Amino acid sequence: MLKKIGVLTSGGDSSGMNAAVRAVVRSGIANGMEVCGISDGYLGLCQGRISLMEPHDVSDILNRGGTILGTSRFPAFREESVREAGIAQLRKFGIEGLIVIGGNGSYQGARLLSEAGMPCIGIPGTIDNDTPGSDFSIGFSTALSTVVECIDRLRDTATSHKRITIVEIMGRHCGDLALYASIACGCEAVIVPEHEFSLDDVLASMDRAIKAGKRSAVIALCENVTDITELTREIEAHTGFETRASVLGHIVRGGVPSAFDRVLGSRLGAYAVDLLRTGMGGRMVGVHKGELVNYDFSEDDVRLHFDEKLYQLSALLV
Ligand code: F6P
Repeated sequence: MLKKIGVLTSGGDSSGMNAAVRAVVRSGIANGMEVCGISDGYLGLCQGRISLMEPHDVSDILNRGGTILGTSRFPAFREESVREAGIAQLRKFGIEGLIVIGGNGSYQGARLLSEAGMPCIGIPGTIDNDTPGSDFSIGFSTALSTVVECIDRLRDTATSHKRITIVEIMGRHCGDLALYASIACGCEAVIVPEHEFSLDDVLASMDRAIKAGKRSAVIALCENVTDITELTREIEAHTGFETRASVLGHIVRGGVPSAFDRVLGSRLGAYAVDLLRTGMGGRMVGVHKGELVNYDFSEDDVRLHFDEKLYQLSALLV
């Protein structure tokens, strides 16, 4: 039975991380453990910015976006000597197990720490929905709602002006946010990294929209696939329709967490504590078909399936 555990958030913040932190702190304490919060991810870990948390430290945070612990990207943690400094800090504070809330890069750190003898549990926290081992990551639902709101606004303007609008959406190398948003907003085309980019296909979709007499067309474009400025120029030249580009960027990452992300964060936080408590480490947790699941960090391709049926549906319904 572990006496003291730590929790940190790492990588890009996502709405609902606070629900997970709260669940770790409160369920850890309810199970007779002490829980330490670590500031600013692996960077703060290596610097020993670690403090004991009480139940009231996580009051009134369920409804707050971002992460109260702070986060960072800290590539130096890939180096063994840096990780050893992190482990030394954990030992100094008497921490026997660590819960890491973050995305793929954060999981790599947690996996290496586990291999070095510090049991870690990974909780998926990223807007990208690209972490293995879970149907959904914390923050995806909230970010999706924000993307949908933005596209609805852009649609109003595009329809009023009889224009084509291209919206670039975060996701790193995962098209889920763009795909789900395109279905929710009836986008005339969606461009995702999981399908090879074809300008001809996009132009054909625009031609169909114009022939159908639509006053506007919206293209949902996942970031890192093709250059949005160049695409805008090509589409305007081909269709003769005024075309505008909007890059949503970081605006979609923060904000009041959705009920779904709060519940997901709460469930996964408490579940991660349960696993550590029963002596497990080196695992990532998630939900699959509504049930809580866990996998070894080495199973890094499990549940990473782009939903082809949704992709077909997005094309069928416009
Ligand atoms: O992983 C979350 C994410 O927002 C990605 O969608 C995006 O590519 C990246 O982080 C941006 O990173 P940063 O906040 O470091 O600029």
